[in-house]
Amino acid sequence: MSYKFQVTKTQESSLSKVDFNNIPFGKTFSDHMFVADYIHGEWTNLSIVPVAKIQVHPGNMAWHYGQAIFEGMKATRDAAGHALLFRPELHAKRMNASARRMCMPELPEDLFLQAIHTLVDMEKAWIPPAAGSALYIRPFMIAMDETIGVKASETYKFIIFVMPVGPYYTNPVKLLAQDTYVRAVVGGVGEAKTAGNYAASLLPATMARKEGYDQVMWLDGVHKKYIQEVGTMNIFFVINDEVVTPNLDGAILDGITRNSMIALFKDKGYKVTERPITIDEVMDAGKNGSLIEVFGTGTAAVVAPVSHLKYKDQVLELDMNKRNLSKWAYETINGIRNRTIEDKFGWIVEA
Ligand code: COI
Repeated sequence: MSYKFQVTKTQESSLSKVDFNNIPFGKTFSDHMFVADYIHGEWTNLSIVPVAKIQVHPGNMAWHYGQAIFEGMKATRDAAGHALLFRPELHAKRMNASARRMCMPELPEDLFLQAIHTLVDMEKAWIPPAAGSALYIRPFMIAMDETIGVKASETYKFIIFVMPVGPYYTNPVKLLAQDTYVRAVVGGVGEAKTAGNYAASLLPATMARKEGYDQVMWLDGVHKKYIQEVGTMNIFFVINDEVVTPNLDGAILDGITRNSMIALFKDKGYKVTERPITIDEVMDAGKNGSLIEVFGTGTAAVVAPVSHLKYKDQVLELDMNKRNLSKWAYETINGIRNRTIEDKFGWIVEA
């Protein structure tokens, strides 16, 4: 089905003010956003408008009871200037999985995709040209009822806005395994891309930063020994010649970069295992020399090598000269994204 969007263009583009060689992550926004309202059980007011503040009542239920979900995806460009999207259909499906868990309405996948395509096509001049940079796309949905009382809202707003970004991490990351606070338990909301999961990471991440670490590595909420993910990404370990990543147990985010990496590594001939992995196994592998590489993956972070891992009073320092797989992974996914490397899996679509 094709949807009709009401389009209002900005009178004054701010594109000329952007320095594409120096774009801090998440602070520079393009000119237009897509907006839709969920009222009386249907998505309506489908429009593209200049980016502007939205008016929200103090009784807005998203603020009080946390019905807020989002996605993160990227648009890149090829040498011919085509705007490219990476596996957008998986983002549409994951947005709806988050919506179901948070008792929010789903968006028809074709509406989500048409909105992304139309907005990115309109804003394609905002896609930074440098490899590793991209137009970060942030679709999100929030409750809009003005009611104090714990129940699902009946009205919602869905917005997509986009921003040119450079790398999320500019240096290898230092991780602190968290054994006091937990992110999620099976049956909770860990698998949903909901705002509260990120709010829950802020105190431990701040504590980690005070100790000189960039992010928290989460352990499971029951035994506090199985590794789940990092505050901003999924996690991979190369132990001898095996690539290991925690299995999707319902408590960790089903990362689209994670999924793509598994396919790329398998295609390259690696043995990739999705299984429970304990922090003790990793620390032991670090001590006996079998831990070759640790890296995180995510839309924002892409592939981020880990240089240090702390657990209790032990610190592992990873040899950054051995980061062959993560380097290859980073270059390959960026190459697929700007069509300098063959897209064997058919992940790229033109906006
Ligand atoms: C993403 O990787 O897109 C996320 O949503 C995580 C956040 C750190 C930006």
